[in-house]
Amino acid sequence: QTLTERSLDAVAHLIKSGKARRVVVMTGAGISTAAGIPDFRSPETGLYANLAALDLPEPEAVFDLVFFKQNPRPFYVLAKDLYPGNFHPTVSHVFISLLAQKSLLHQLFTQNIDCLERAAGIPGHLIVEAHGSFADQRCIDCKTAYPADLMRAHVARAEVPRCVDVECGGLVKPDIVFFHEALPSLFYDRMPLAETADLVLVMGTSLQVHPFAGLPEQVPGDVPRVLFNLERVGSLGSHADDVLVLGDCDSGVRLLADALGWREELEATWRG
Ligand code: OAD
Repeated sequence: QTLTERSLDAVAHLIKSGKARRVVVMTGAGISTAAGIPDFRSPETGLYANLAALDLPEPEAVFDLVFFKQNPRPFYVLAKDLYPGNFHPTVSHVFISLLAQKSLLHQLFTQNIDCLERAAGIPGHLIVEAHGSFADQRCIDCKTAYPADLMRAHVARAEVPRCVDVECGGLVKPDIVFFHEALPSLFYDRMPLAETADLVLVMGTSLQVHPFAGLPEQVPGDVPRVLFNLERVGSLGSHADDVLVLGDCDSGVRLLADALGWREELEATWRG
């Protein structure tokens, strides 16, 4: 047995014995790469490494409100590849939905905008989409909502949609949180739940973007934090009870499911 597997046994025991009943999960793009959606910062496959053709001042500009107002085209070129609809939840998403089904999910904080949490059946009231999502869109000037069917048509052609009020004519943008925009108030309302967690799972995030990256720091020092990620990130591993499961997160989650006796249920639910 490796150290990781032994530690996952300890995590499984916490859940099975009823000591961990309030599991808080924090996720990022790494839980959706197995669904075929690129993450942002992986060196060769990440979106930011593949934006050269868009001629941006820096990769993050594609999600920057100041830049978007000057030049919205690069975002819409990218939106075509990211738009929800053609992707299916991963084993990791399904594992989180099992936690919810078993009344163990205290809260899911996700940075992802792909709506795969909802697609996996995780109840909406347990999800904080900290960076918004592609679910709705509006004019950035007058805030008038923009119809979903028109949005889909524009995104499919990588065209920039304009406000339905022709007098206004403002740029339309999905309700994704860009750099230089505030996070939804729900994020701050639910942040205290990280302090009342009795187990925390951090999955598929580089923890590079604040304030989300500060969430694992809200967790009391004696509460185990488990990291499922290709690489070590943030301060994960600095607490005595932290568990590092380095590798692809679906494999890590399967190991935990084995230790919990949930593996068959996980695979069956995932296959649908
Ligand atoms: P990143 O691309 O910054 O980080 C993804 C992390 O997941 C990295 O540490 C990868 O090594 C890891 N990873 C990739 N595939 C994995 C896999 N199959 N299993 C396990 N780990 C894997 O993505 P985020 O942390 O989500 O903002 O990025 C945060 C924010 O930066 C995003 O929400 C986005 C971006 O700017 C907006 O869109 C507003």
